[in-house]
Amino acid sequence: METHIDIFDEIDALRAERNAIILAHYYQDPDIQDLADFIGDSLQLAKAARDTDADVIVFCGVHFMAETAKILNPSRTVVLPDMAAGCSLADAAPGPDIAAWKAAHPDHVLVSYVNCSADVKAQSDIICTSSNATRVIDSIPEDQGILFCPDRNLGAWLEKQSGRDMVLWQGTCIVHETFSEKRLIQLKVRHPDAKVICHPECEPNLLAHADHIGSTSSLLTYATTTDDADTFIVGTEVGIIHQMEKASPDRTFIPLPGMDESCACNECPHMKRNTLEKIRDCLRDLTPQIEMDETMRLRALRPIERMMEL
Ligand code: 13P
Ligand code: SF4
Repeated sequence: METHIDIFDEIDALRAERNAIILAHYYQDPDIQDLADFIGDSLQLAKAARDTDADVIVFCGVHFMAETAKILNPSRTVVLPDMAAGCSLADAAPGPDIAAWKAAHPDHVLVSYVNCSADVKAQSDIICTSSNATRVIDSIPEDQGILFCPDRNLGAWLEKQSGRDMVLWQGTCIVHETFSEKRLIQLKVRHPDAKVICHPECEPNLLAHADHIGSTSSLLTYATTTDDADTFIVGTEVGIIHQMEKASPDRTFIPLPGMDESCACNECPHMKRNTLEKIRDCLRDLTPQIEMDETMRLRALRPIERMMEL
């Protein structure tokens, strides 16, 4: 039976042999975050994938993130340790349904959250992530109608931030929609000095309690650098707490639980499909690989580049 030490050594040897870079999202298991060459939020990871000169990108995240890496840097081999690592938001917005929605609103521009398929990106006017969404909306003329997909919670939060009305697609994240307001209030009573930090994918009733709302990297910076509270109640996927504890070992980070106390609902089942064994195997076999039709890639690239230009 293989030991932990063996597999770390194997991954290191294969990473060197393949001239590979391992990129990991903050929601990955701590072991995967610790072995990665770069850890970040979805925008930071996209930029790291675009700029790398490694031959192979091992994307420890979910499918739409690895697909974005391939769109931005097509000459690299991009492998995703588990091809079934999807995203409930991307699944909620099938390409043909978005095409029909666009056709029903011919005067609107389509702004898509990066958590969507290449097909939906290709139909979009501009992409955003949670760390630049407000800037993207603010860049659109005030009299221009906007369709926003796929996350209705991020969309509603952006409407509040920007004072704009948008037509929202009704997708949700299976992790962020399950956080319990009742448990949040109980935690606030027990920890009256704690600050509440939430990802904008949370439901509006949760966001109403937040001292800070932002992308994963923004939550990390706020809880470890910007704010000086000792305790934070964390309303996003629990994986991020590993970096918070590493950066601020003297502070307390309390993961917000889901409504069903018997499940680990604050873990993303898609992100957690990636394992050390699957990372080793995809480095060894260079599969499963992200492949994309070049016409689709070029159409999907345009709205991503518009975002990057901002
Ligand atoms: P970030 O862009 O904040 O990393 O979020 C990605 C995501 O999938 C959140 O659920
Ligand atoms: Fe998608 Fe939610 Fe998982 Fe993020 S946490 S990858 S939005 S399912």
